[in-house]
Amino acid sequence: MAASTVVALLAAAPLLPVIFLLLTRLALRALGWFLQGKTRERKAAIIAKIQRDRAAVQERQQVPQEVEEGWESIENVGTAENGESLQDDWTGVVGFFHPFCNAGGGGERVLWAAIAATQKRWPRAICAVYTGDHDIDRGVVVATVKDRFGIALQEHSLVFLYLSRRHFVLASTYPHFTLLGQSLGSLILAYDAFQLMVPDIFIDTMGYAFAVAFCKSLFPRVPTAAYVHYPTISTDMLESLDDTTGQRGIHSGAGTGWKGKAKRYYWTAFAWLYGWVGSQIDVVMCNSTWTQGHIRQLWKPRNVSPPSTFAAVVYPPCPVEELESKIQVTEESEKQREDIVLYIAQFRPEKNHSLILRAFAQYYHAAKNKPRLVLIGSVRSNTPDEKHIYNLRLEARELKVKDTTTFICDAPFSVILDYLRKSSITTNGMYSEHFGIGNVEGLAAGLIPVVHNSGGPKLDIVIPYEGQPTGFHAESEEEFAAAFQRVASLEPQERLAMRLRGRKSARRFTEAAFAQRWTEEMEKLVRMQAS
Ligand SMILES: *[C@@H]1O[C@H](CO)[C@@H](O)[C@H](O)[C@H]1NC(C)=O
Ligand SMILES: *[C@@H]1O[C@H](CO)[C@@H](O)[C@H](O)[C@H]1NC(C)=O
Repeated sequence: MAASTVVALLAAAPLLPVIFLLLTRLALRALGWFLQGKTRERKAAIIAKIQRDRAAVQERQQVPQEVEEGWESIENVGTAENGESLQDDWTGVVGFFHPFCNAGGGGERVLWAAIAATQKRWPRAICAVYTGDHDIDRGVVVATVKDRFGIALQEHSLVFLYLSRRHFVLASTYPHFTLLGQSLGSLILAYDAFQLMVPDIFIDTMGYAFAVAFCKSLFPRVPTAAYVHYPTISTDMLESLDDTTGQRGIHSGAGTGWKGKAKRYYWTAFAWLYGWVGSQIDVVMCNSTWTQGHIRQLWKPRNVSPPSTFAAVVYPPCPVEELESKIQVTEESEKQREDIVLYIAQFRPEKNHSLILRAFAQYYHAAKNKPRLVLIGSVRSNTPDEKHIYNLRLEARELKVKDTTTFICDAPFSVILDYLRKSSITTNGMYSEHFGIGNVEGLAAGLIPVVHNSGGPKLDIVIPYEGQPTGFHAESEEEFAAAFQRVASLEPQERLAMRLRGRKSARRFTEAAFAQRWTEEMEKLVRMQAS
């Protein structure tokens, strides 16, 4: 009797992990079901309140003078093309997981632009932001976003849901096993979010992939998306453990000894887990080709065919429209351009200002026209940056280009605008820069880019427009110097044509382009949700 039980148990042993997984799945479903029931009433109350507010807004809009600026066009959106008009009436709740939504940086610009685009496309939808900032007021946020980013939000259908467990995702909470700690912490924060309200569509805009996968296991019918700025772990990080040159970041060469071995196992295991998590997400967007490359490598797409459609690049909105309106690119404006090479970048070693200085010196000493170099950047005070810029000044003196090189620290936008107007070339010396918004601004302002032959500047920014070049790629000092010289020796007509091509190609980075790409990806989610 006892013996046969043991035999039966032994026989079942290989099945134990399967049984365990099955039970976990069931438990998560049950939890999801419980959460949905628990928050149903609150969700209904929120929807009802927004409907009342909408009615009030519409009543006000009957009086023509009081139409809210920027929103009068909503009425036209409903009259759709290609028989999809039904979906313009879509009324679901889109939950944006953005625990730090008041930080005011580039990630927030993406969040607000995404919400604005969603509201334009589905005026009756509700956008809910899960945030850990408790002190924010909706009216103030809407005004600040308008003021700071020039983005108009529809106020009455925007909801903030306040998270109370944000410390679980702070790196400082986990002195050891930070990656894993933060990722598991994001599960707690996501639970916090779902017990406030279960959305109809769930989107992470801050890189909490674990939270999205958690959503999928709790509520399999809720479509999910992630906008990825940066992979949590990258193959670069794993490779840097073997680095012996000390040039691959803070983990360079950390892969030796038993600690190094342990770190390698930990990171490899984490990368595997991260990959599984990523494969659970329905729609993935990446902010650049660089990020897309890493995400495609790490997240194995689930039933996406062909795989090349997995993880679309949706460039974040850059202030291209503003530069277009403030800076002319015409035959007339060419007369104001001077032979200035402009490099906008923080004064930090990896930006490799030194390479640009040396290349410029080579170009300058061979040129007949007296070109100038202008370096604009921020300097973080009380950091090695201050010493760095001092060394760069010394180098300029040694290279005998001191008098023709201008260093400008922490320039206001008006000064930057002035240089964008009168410079001829925009450059970048960093190896494998992820993106480089400075070069996008340069391109939009009509400058000809001479950029490092790597990273985002090569893959995303300086690419041919209608089969014709918009700028140059260079790697060595000599190549940069030759490219500067080539721009200077172009025929004026040809140079202007190249500037105009570059400006047109910068349209890929406009706010309008972002809104369109975002809406295309959102449509997939709405279709899934409605079906
Ligand atoms: C993508 O996000 C990362 C991290 O915030 C940033 O360094 C990079 O410049 C971004 N890329 C674009 C295209 O803005
Ligand atoms: C700067 O560029 C030069 C030439 O490509 C390279 O040898 C050097 O390592 C770079 N420096 C930094 C700090 O990246």
